[in-house]
Amino acid sequence: TTSTDHPTPSFDFVVMANRLPVDRDDSQDPPAWKTSPGGLVTGVAPVMQERTGAWVGWAGAVDAEFEPFDLDGMHLVPVPLSGKEFERYYEGFSNATLWPLYHDVIVHPEYHRTWWDAYVRVNERFARRAAEIAAPDATVWVHDYQLQLVPQMLRDLRPDLAIGFFNHIPFPAWEIFAQLPWRAQITRGMLGADLIGFQRPADAANFRRAVRIGLGRPTKDTAIAVQDESGAHSHTSHARSFPISIDATSLDELARSERIIARAAEIRRELGDPEVLLLGVDRLDYTKGIRHRIKAFGELLDDGAIKPGEATLVQIATPSRERIDQYRKIRHDVEQSVGRINGEHSTLDHQAVHYFHHSYPRDEMAAYYLAADVMLVTALRDGMNLVAKEYVACRTDDDGALVLSEFTGAAEQLTQAVMVNPYDITGLKAKILSAVRMPPAERSRRMKAMRRKLRTDDVRTWSRNFLGTLDDLADTRRSATVPALQ
Ligand code: ADP
Ligand code: G6P
Repeated sequence: TTSTDHPTPSFDFVVMANRLPVDRDDSQDPPAWKTSPGGLVTGVAPVMQERTGAWVGWAGAVDAEFEPFDLDGMHLVPVPLSGKEFERYYEGFSNATLWPLYHDVIVHPEYHRTWWDAYVRVNERFARRAAEIAAPDATVWVHDYQLQLVPQMLRDLRPDLAIGFFNHIPFPAWEIFAQLPWRAQITRGMLGADLIGFQRPADAANFRRAVRIGLGRPTKDTAIAVQDESGAHSHTSHARSFPISIDATSLDELARSERIIARAAEIRRELGDPEVLLLGVDRLDYTKGIRHRIKAFGELLDDGAIKPGEATLVQIATPSRERIDQYRKIRHDVEQSVGRINGEHSTLDHQAVHYFHHSYPRDEMAAYYLAADVMLVTALRDGMNLVAKEYVACRTDDDGALVLSEFTGAAEQLTQAVMVNPYDITGLKAKILSAVRMPPAERSRRMKAMRRKLRTDDVRTWSRNFLGTLDDLADTRRSATVPALQ
């Protein structure tokens, strides 16, 4: 821990994300730190734990200042947000403008100038904090859509740094991105990085197209020659894909432990030993297609294609962004449809749908994955979807069927899944039924192929590829720089 009367230490490696890997829970006495929600932290925390460096991010509480502190082998540097900034930068611009805009405008993005102003201010605060703690020539890795202006702001403050940016969510086609009144500022902000990473090649291509059409700048393969404000050459930035993954080895080990195997069996017993257990695990977000999946399951029961008592659906939904209108609405809609299906199809000894609005420890999640015969990932749009990869990693028995939306990044790696278009309810029903009825030999063949893929597609491969490429690019840039006249 550092305090204000000590000089700020400096770090050769700095990760920046809107959230720290832990989230302050002031509702407990004494207040506690719990794991932050979402796939970004699942992916980046294992990378950070094995390197020495600092993580700059928000601690999850508003109007609260925290000193830097150490936790689980990570040095954490909190950046404060005021209540107004939480509303305008986080709930507003990040999650009611950019989030829906980047996810195929599933709901209408809202554009407000006061939200944009707050986004600029908070990005500046993050950039200044990183500039203070980064050692000379350090590597700074900026993450996700909340901090898209940081790369250029950081370059202005500290041209010595190697700056990487990774977007965990999709990057939209120009035809959609063009709506954004601040599209040019966002594109220029990202171009401050030496390397800009995306989940899918299509996301990287969309970004390069935004550079060509929106800024009128040429691109050559992945390279973009970036100019400074005077029009002089500043640096070359590269935009390409680096699909993220999970710590597959450690989940595999966890799922082999007696404790988790016993808990998985216990979960099935507690659910009344259904013949088939279907599972959904998501943040409660309108991008996840939870309504579509519940509708399809409900119709299969209505039609009699699945007999009452044969199958149970467990839907685990982590609370997320709860004050935003569209998130209140999706919660209401999901809870109403669960209620309707249970009202019509549950009996005293068999409940059709179990719905949990909580988050659970990693052990419990692993036990659920191991207990479930069919995993339903039906996102309408998702940058990657780590839940799909976690399910595969936990299937040490080579069993279990994965139903996977073709609109996830994961669909490009887990090609042996049962692919679905979640908007097509008739097709979704047929695919869910085929997963429920899939012969064991086919389940095993598909699962084995997906597990083989995950063995090489690990989160360490991802971080090594990204950071290795970034190092090379920064070295090239530094060696090309002509020293100023002495
Ligand atoms: P997103 O980043 O949009 O939330 P991902 O599927 O990529 O989606 O990542 C979600 C992460 O959150 C996964 O690591 C998953 O295990 C975790 N998670 C989701 N729901 C829960 C829950 N109810 N309890 C604990 N962890 C959860
Ligand atoms: C996704 C985003 C992350 C975000 C997470 C949780 O994974 O890519 O940037 O942190 O969701 O959302 P939240 O708004 O609670 O941080």
